[in-house]
Amino acid sequence: MTPSADLSGPSGFHLTGGAPDRYEQYVAPVMAPFVDALVDSAGLEPGDTVLDLACGTGFAARIAAARVGPTGRVHGADPNEEMLRLATALRPHLYPDIEFTAAPADRLPHDDALFDVVLCQQGAQFFPDLVAALTETARVTRPGGRFAATTWTHLDRSPYLAAQHETLRQHAGPATGADYLEAFACTGDVLSAALRKAGFHDATARELTLDVTLPPLAAFAAGHLSALPWGRQLVAAHGQQALREAGRTLAERFADRAAPDGTVTLPFTATLTTAIR
Ligand SMILES: C[S@@+](CC[C@H](N)C(=O)[O-])C[C@H]1O[C@@H](n2cnc3c(N)ncnc32)[C@H](O)[C@@H]1O
Repeated sequence: MTPSADLSGPSGFHLTGGAPDRYEQYVAPVMAPFVDALVDSAGLEPGDTVLDLACGTGFAARIAAARVGPTGRVHGADPNEEMLRLATALRPHLYPDIEFTAAPADRLPHDDALFDVVLCQQGAQFFPDLVAALTETARVTRPGGRFAATTWTHLDRSPYLAAQHETLRQHAGPATGADYLEAFACTGDVLSAALRKAGFHDATARELTLDVTLPPLAAFAAGHLSALPWGRQLVAAHGQQALREAGRTLAERFADRAAPDGTVTLPFTATLTTAIR
């Protein structure tokens, strides 16, 4: 991992104190099908040089590395060094290594026009200045290079996330509820307009609804909350017991949807936005 001296402060999604491990463990089941769709949409070729922007623990970078092969290169950038430590520990033993760098999206250390493809999985909604971040992304993307991002579509298209929001509002209070909603504000229209301002063209956005099978919620719901900044706010304000109660509330909400093995399959909707540099 390449450290960077001057990182931006915590953004709307800054996990510390062991939460990155829980993020990897509990968020993977929800993200996995969307990461596959994101990487597919970018049409990666062997030999491509790829950036996973706001890479977190590296879900997209790991899949991209398998696609571009030994003649390609994959970099990941994220300002959260704890997330990157995990990304580095989890990277597959491939040649060449995925290179993770601590950097916010609006201050990337990479050369101009380095990347054939930039992927951004559920990160753009957390950039404090979206146009500045995408202008910097445009700088590091070669002319004709591709950009692809997922961001959550409005809550009412993802029943589990809507219930998670309602549970957090009830158990942690309206401020946490409002904070959570900000993660849903980066619509396809907002992202496409920012991409055009930043120097990309042919920006298009489409909704992607995928069924996700969640592990039995009695154990999973609280763990998943504990891997998110809003669940961390709940614990900070009201303690671990409040987190367990919130998890129970969520599990009960979907009890009638549980399969005999306890799993629950629900639709989640993200917006997939693509553009050309
Ligand atoms: C919901 S996580 C998504 C992580 C990863 N892309 C994934 O698919 O799991 C949001 C990520 O955005 C990162 N982030 C927050 N502010 C950022 C910024 N200004 N520039 C780049 N990344 C940022 C966070 O550190 C976090 O890893």
